[in-house]
Amino acid sequence: MKILVIGSGGREHAIVWKLLQSAAVAKVWCAPGNGGISKDAECLPLDLNDLKAAADLASRLGAGLTIVGPELPLAHGIADEFAKRGLALLGPPRKAAQLEGSKVFAKKFMERFRIPTASTYGIYDSPIDAYTSLCSVDWPLVVKADGLCAGKGVLVTSSPDEAAAFIDRLMEKNEFGDAGKQVLFEEGLAGRELSYIILMDGKNFVSLAPTRDHKRTFDNDQGPNTGGMGAFSSADILPPELEIKILETIVRPTLAGLQKEGMNYCGFLYFGLMLTSDGPKVLEYNCRLGDPETQAILLRADFDFADACAQATSGNLAAVQAKSSDGASICVVVASEGYPEKPKFGKEILGLEAAASVPGATIFHAGTRREGEKYYTTGGRVLSVGAVGKDLSAASKIAYEAASKIRIDGAHYRKDIGTPRAPSKAAVEGQNP
Ligand code: AMP
Ligand code: GLY
Repeated sequence: MKILVIGSGGREHAIVWKLLQSAAVAKVWCAPGNGGISKDAECLPLDLNDLKAAADLASRLGAGLTIVGPELPLAHGIADEFAKRGLALLGPPRKAAQLEGSKVFAKKFMERFRIPTASTYGIYDSPIDAYTSLCSVDWPLVVKADGLCAGKGVLVTSSPDEAAAFIDRLMEKNEFGDAGKQVLFEEGLAGRELSYIILMDGKNFVSLAPTRDHKRTFDNDQGPNTGGMGAFSSADILPPELEIKILETIVRPTLAGLQKEGMNYCGFLYFGLMLTSDGPKVLEYNCRLGDPETQAILLRADFDFADACAQATSGNLAAVQAKSSDGASICVVVASEGYPEKPKFGKEILGLEAAASVPGATIFHAGTRREGEKYYTTGGRVLSVGAVGKDLSAASKIAYEAASKIRIDGAHYRKDIGTPRAPSKAAVEGQNP
């Protein structure tokens, strides 16, 4: 197999790393990739907004399969462009990718198919209507921009002033452009979050290892929300009876709904769940693998990932099993100074070899570029320091030993990834969990 991976983050580095372990893989390219990926696979320039250029590239390279990491090209219809040209791509068509691309679409879909989710107070096209509704909602309130905002379009708050200021940024100052033109208000849910991701071939699916990510910047869930500061995976975060409930009440009804509405979903489907006292409820769908969840999932993946992706693309997942190794995996994100608000770039990254030589550790690159053997930061999330161990505490020890060897001026990472936490009361207290 010759495979093109689209994207440039830690998720894509983990995908490339896992694909290269398959005996069936002859060549992997990544576009645009990053400094670390360029050590493992050939990286090629690509503007992620240019769907035609992506299809031209896959066609020119003779890639037998293209795997898409980030949401933007999927929401813009990269799968449709490739299908039109007879090119194999793993990812849902534009219509189905609206499950992530539009919170309003997703919420209406869940309501149509009675999929458990937070109840909606209202959907607003005008800021006046939104401000007025603040008088008649319960608190905490969750305010969501309809469109893609790179993880910045959701506010959980108990403060009417904060809600009003967020509406102003979305609907009057248009900070997120068209993505903030429509706004949804929903009930704040309390509980622990769980990321449950499946791989679908249109009819059949396999479930990947369950993960939990840590979205806030600092320890103890303090500071602003980020794309994810770390994740972990172990079997005990998903007892069998809970998985059965998730499958029965959420996954299967979602797949039945997609089929009923003529959406042929081929690709990864991510269920962002809140495990409430009233059962699991959907916070969001993503039409792709998560970042940094993928790093934790693939570190435990005990199956041929390249084969599974190829079988999913050709509708033959029925015979595939996605086994995960026993024990646990963890991924600690090393972020640039100032991330997420104003990350500073261009710093040299030292200690990579020492970190990678810690037994059990694997370093995935995100915002990096390479000049010969030297690496420099180019993004907010710089590295994902991954590790596997017999349990979470063993994996965590390895990851933190490796992370301590990395030296980047001003960089920071959370020290509490994977530590057990009481069910989050953050929603009740009016903070983003
Ligand atoms: P979303 O992009 O919809 O997943 O929202 C991002 C994050 O906001 C989630 O991972 C949760 O931490 C939080 N969140 C979203 N919706 C809710 C809700 N209804 N209740 C509590 N927290 C929520
Ligand atoms: N880590 C959350 C996401 O990928 O959306």
